[in-house]
Amino acid sequence: MELYPSMMCADFGTLADEVRALDAAGADAFHCDIMDGCFVPNITMGTNDIRAIKAATNKPVDAHLMIIDPLAKLDLFIEAGADIIYIHPEAERFCAKALLAIRAAGRKAGLAVNPETPVSAVEELLPLVDHLMVMTVSPGFAGQAFMEFTLPKIQRFAELKGRFGYKLVIDGACSPERIAQLSELGADAFVLGTSALFGKGDYALSIERLRQPALAYA
Ligand code: DX5
Ligand code: ZN
Repeated sequence: MELYPSMMCADFGTLADEVRALDAAGADAFHCDIMDGCFVPNITMGTNDIRAIKAATNKPVDAHLMIIDPLAKLDLFIEAGADIIYIHPEAERFCAKALLAIRAAGRKAGLAVNPETPVSAVEELLPLVDHLMVMTVSPGFAGQAFMEFTLPKIQRFAELKGRFGYKLVIDGACSPERIAQLSELGADAFVLGTSALFGKGDYALSIERLRQPALAYA
């Protein structure tokens, strides 16, 4: 199981300290939600935040591009050092070209699908995907409720993993209970925000408990 703290939930007054603490607590990678206020009704992080996080850790840093026309802006995030770059098929006319460009830059190609986007809308792209991320909340804000209707789609993407080899990532309202449930379904990685990490006390203890569900209920 891989755990990715959602850095939009971190304390930006002490960002480097937060990164070091989360790194030491066992985070596997850092999740950066990039929003343009158009594709989603919020504006959060930018390329300087990616650079600052990269400077404070040797672990991978991703860029979850919740922006319109990400292909046209890819170089900004490649130059900022993002190791995994997620685009949304709902925001890009040239998805195949974008995913191939991310790989050509030596980065992991991520595809993030909104709750209402069906598997059939992206199935032909799966050979080009290293990280398939299922949004279980409407993208843009932390602290939302998990959308139960996404469960069959998560199951379907878990079944397709064997054929295409991508990592199955869940983003949105990942609580300890959800993480235990979705791990059983075949999810490989989880974005951790306010439901399981931030505002939940000691980072190391929270992450340890997530890795050992038996501990979570101790
Ligand atoms: C949603 C964001 C995530 C996540 C935050 O657009 O990509 O950061 O939802 O975690 P929660 O949902 O647990 O607050
Ligand atoms: Zn995200």
